Amino acid sequence: MKILVLGSAAGGGFPQWNCNCHNCAGVRAGDPRFRARTQSSIAISADGVHWALINASPDILAQLKQHPELQPARMLRDSGISAVILVDAQIDHTTGLFMLRERASQLPVWCTEPVHQDLTTGNPVFGVLQHFCGVDWHPLRADPPTPFSLPELPDLRFTPVALASQPPPFSPRRGRAHREDNIGLLVEDLRSSRKLFYAPGLGAIEPHLDEFLAQADCIMVDGTFWTDDEMIRLGLSRKTAREIGHLPQSGGDGMIARLSPYASARRILIHINNTNPILDSASHERRMLQNADIEVAFDGMKIEL
Ligand code: MLT
Ligand code: MN
Ligand code: ZN
Repeated sequence: MKILVLGSAAGGGFPQWNCNCHNCAGVRAGDPRFRARTQSSIAISADGVHWALINASPDILAQLKQHPELQPARMLRDSGISAVILVDAQIDHTTGLFMLRERASQLPVWCTEPVHQDLTTGNPVFGVLQHFCGVDWHPLRADPPTPFSLPELPDLRFTPVALASQPPPFSPRRGRAHREDNIGLLVEDLRSSRKLFYAPGLGAIEPHLDEFLAQADCIMVDGTFWTDDEMIRLGLSRKTAREIGHLPQSGGDGMIARLSPYASARRILIHINNTNPILDSASHERRMLQNADIEVAFDGMKIEL
């Protein structure tokens, strides 16, 4: 399978429009240690023609311009995007759906029932799209994990896995988390049996995740924050990383330590917040990742599994 990283940053992107932190100032100044990144999204294909878009970033139009392989140009109006899979209802993963409104037929979107609820109430993206191409919603079940395939990508099998999380701030259920507010995806290429585990929002590695992480050849997971109090220390938020559903990388029970049992897989951090010191390629924190053999995703990164 082919995996294309369209956007590797968390919500806000890198640099974030209103931020003058060390990293955002560095990338704006053109310092080569920093590389700009758009908001979180990947595309997956078995044949290189039909693609599943996993999350629709507000930066999607710029991302598609960067990747002509997503435009097969078989007819006057066309796209390589066969379907969209959403891992949550967050703004950075869903508002790009508006940009796909010119589609000639309903847009196939796969997401859980709670995500569908948020996208028809708190942030009614699906309701708005009904006035354009419309949405052909396919409910997916992550609890228990229930595999599914996309008609145009028959060689790939997707297994959604429920993750501990919070619904987005605009959700009518805010504070009353549901198991399926946020999911991880195990994607298996049925021809080669090679597997990707993808979870850009991962607040905790719970015991039920072990079997999915252990069988993956490539693990792409939450790279949002380095420390739990990163945003608090900068005076930018009152909430810890864990409180908003992101496991920080550092510390004895952080992501680096929790990924160590899976060292036979290629391990990549994605959905990186602009405040995270790993965005500075010369930082001590980036060196710690390199020593742990963990990679940092960048826009345009291509992975062949
Ligand atoms: C998150 O994953 O917590 C989001 O990036 C927040 C946001 O988009 O505002
Ligand atoms: Mn996000
Ligand atoms: Zn910043």
